[in-house]
Amino acid sequence: MAVKQPGLEQYKTQLGLGFLDAPQKPILPPPPCLEILPSEVSSSVKYTVEPVDLGGLTLLKGRVSTREVFNLSNCDLIPGKYEGGLKLWEGSLDLVKTLQKEVQNEQLLLPGKRVLELGCGHGLPGIFTGFEGAAVIHFQDFNAEVLRCLTIPNVNANLLKKSQTLATDAREWNIDAEFRFFAGDWSEVHQILPCTHTNVKDQNCSPVLDQSVGYDIILMAETVYSVSALPHLYELIKKCLNRPNGVLYMAAKKHYFGVGGGSRRFLSVVEKDGKLSFIRYISIRQW
Ligand SMILES: C[S@@+](CC[C@H](N)C(=O)[O-])C[C@H]1O[C@@H](n2cnc3c(N)ncnc32)[C@H](O)[C@@H]1O
Repeated sequence: MAVKQPGLEQYKTQLGLGFLDAPQKPILPPPPCLEILPSEVSSSVKYTVEPVDLGGLTLLKGRVSTREVFNLSNCDLIPGKYEGGLKLWEGSLDLVKTLQKEVQNEQLLLPGKRVLELGCGHGLPGIFTGFEGAAVIHFQDFNAEVLRCLTIPNVNANLLKKSQTLATDAREWNIDAEFRFFAGDWSEVHQILPCTHTNVKDQNCSPVLDQSVGYDIILMAETVYSVSALPHLYELIKKCLNRPNGVLYMAAKKHYFGVGGGSRRFLSVVEKDGKLSFIRYISIRQW
């Protein structure tokens, strides 16, 4: 008797390969780069909140409907239109756990640090750094709608919970931390990010270093799936990261089947350029 082989649909489900559902990239101009103020939080989209247990740490994550926000159903992303920010991807949980472990082991000191989370979606890694004393936490997402409907409500929900438990769990939380939100494509968003290098010479990694410029820590989870976006992402990181002490934390799969990107491909872009030697440490969560 012939054994029935699992079909593509079954493989996609087993392996979590929702990226394969993405249709071909439409030729659309990227959305405009915008800072989204916390007051611009959406009040029209239904947002419900639930706890996420991260091994001794509980953060809150929202749930909003992709259909309500983007008029899309059952879709992880549509390249150039919606880049998956409403879903919580496993890499961001892994990234929070890595940060938590490094804070506990005193390998990572967050008090006073300037943090940028690229491709934030829910923004849980950035929120975590805020709770551990970071002074500046900037969130970037492709879609302004994701920031309005999900990231800002998530920051608010977690801040509220934190303030309620503060009496018993003061830790390092910097109550004056700056949370800001920026929407736009990686090819352009440096124009509105506040802590980027403005000196053109410095962007070529000249030895003239200004240690007060750039983010101390850049976080990104599940952002390296699209081959065509990798050069823009890498150039953005070069413009944003503090030199010589900036640290990039990346959580990604080695390879995203069906779309071709992955941490290996991203690192080959970095190596080919040969200019990112000022990154002290790259943490890659690979599956
Ligand atoms: C798969 S989602 C990951 C979301 C979140 N980091 C997580 O792990 O749950 C990819 C994220 O990368 C961002 N992104 C993808 N392509 C982008 C581009 N060309 N420009 C700006 N952001 C982009 C989107 O904002 C999106 O939220």
